[in-house]
Amino acid sequence: MSKEIACKEEEGPLGKLIVVPKGLYNVVPDTTTISGVDPKGEHTIYRGYTIADIGEHADFYEAAHLFLYGKLPCEEEYKEIKKKIDTYRAQIPEKVLDALRYVPKTHPMYYGAYGVTLLGQYYGTDWRFDDDFLYEHALRLIAQLPVIFTAGWHLANEGTIIRPDPNLSHGKDVLRMIVGRMPSDLEARAFESTLVLYMDHGFNASTFTVRVIASTLSDMYSAIAGGIGALKGPLHGGANERALKMLLDAKARAEAAGKPLEEYIEEYILEKLAKKERIMGFGHRVYKIHDPRTDVAAKFIKQLKDGEWWLKVMKKAEEVMWREKKLPANIDFYTGVLYYQLGIPVPMFTPIFAMGRIVGWTTHYIEQVKNNRLIRPTEKYVGPTGLKYEPMEVRCKK
Ligand SMILES: CC(C)(COP(=O)(O)OP(=O)(O)OC[C@H]1O[C@@H](n2cnc3c(N)ncnc32)[C@H](O)[C@@H]1OP(=O)(O)O)[C@@H](O)C(=O)NCCC(=O)NCCS
Repeated sequence: MSKEIACKEEEGPLGKLIVVPKGLYNVVPDTTTISGVDPKGEHTIYRGYTIADIGEHADFYEAAHLFLYGKLPCEEEYKEIKKKIDTYRAQIPEKVLDALRYVPKTHPMYYGAYGVTLLGQYYGTDWRFDDDFLYEHALRLIAQLPVIFTAGWHLANEGTIIRPDPNLSHGKDVLRMIVGRMPSDLEARAFESTLVLYMDHGFNASTFTVRVIASTLSDMYSAIAGGIGALKGPLHGGANERALKMLLDAKARAEAAGKPLEEYIEEYILEKLAKKERIMGFGHRVYKIHDPRTDVAAKFIKQLKDGEWWLKVMKKAEEVMWREKKLPANIDFYTGVLYYQLGIPVPMFTPIFAMGRIVGWTTHYIEQVKNNRLIRPTEKYVGPTGLKYEPMEVRCKK
């Protein structure tokens, strides 16, 4: 299959067919007022603000309000969204958590998709499309998804569940549930900032999946379960844990070779590139020069454990990748390191991406259903034609 990048027009049974580039490269399937990704990274927009501005300064509730309701909240609005998210976080049905005890002990992303589907069985069966209903369910999902992921993770490992505390802020409580200790304010702020940086990013693969499911007028829970499935892949959200694993592998090899990692990383990357391997945490479908989210994450990495040293290693890796492949580092390269500094178990990295992106997913769901047309492209069949059915005893004797 080729990677052609131009559209072509052909005659088809419904009139002119527009044949678009593979992977929908540079294709615009709809407009949105939620976020826009700038290829140069300078003007990536969250509802009119730059992503770096909101990522560095807004807390979880402010950013969630900005996405869902289109504006940063004032005092009363802030109190209300905070109260709802904190209350919902602690109100997850006990039976949903119980059900997680009886499934195979697998990667926490499976628990997420399964748990959200279960929540849908509690809340999503008589689905409606009026505003109050949609926004309440969005807030419920935003609040409860982290509880499902963390419960799944701890059940699979220690067999216990760490319960949410509605008196803590969302970011701090979620980090506490993940690491099983009370984080410092700096750790909580760094973690929360990554949730905000992950909240939305145009029509990325998981968000587009959510929009496709929304366009069938299925319920929000089913759409989010689909989004989690798309995010799990190594070319999308799965990259943050693979990027960190790669750095840890390089670190172990550097130690074995008695070399400092900040020097050894060049040799390590060159070896992988020579074997035609992808370097996880580099490259992006839209960003070809710079991912602005990395600047905000770097500010927090610097303040956390071994921050200056990690940044030195990362800068070297970026220098090599730019020189060799003209590929910039993406957010996953940075969050991988930041989560490691916070002592977060590696399999929880992609679930954390989902805990932020759930805000974008639910907002896109609402935007799609409010101005809907079924998303259903047309295929171009290029397989054989004219075959005729023959019974097994005839077709298998040939
Ligand atoms: C994100 C990604 C899927 C974008 O893909 P894309 O726009 O479809 O680009 P392609 O996969 O077609 O790659 C284009 C070229 O760059 C190369 N390339 C892209 N990312 C690369 C990487 N991380 N390491 C090495 N080479 C890479 C590809 O091998 C390809 O080379 P080729 O044309 O010689 O085959 C891709 O950059 C990637 O796989 N990155 C690693 C995973 C990752 O970090 N994902 C998180 C994204 S936020």
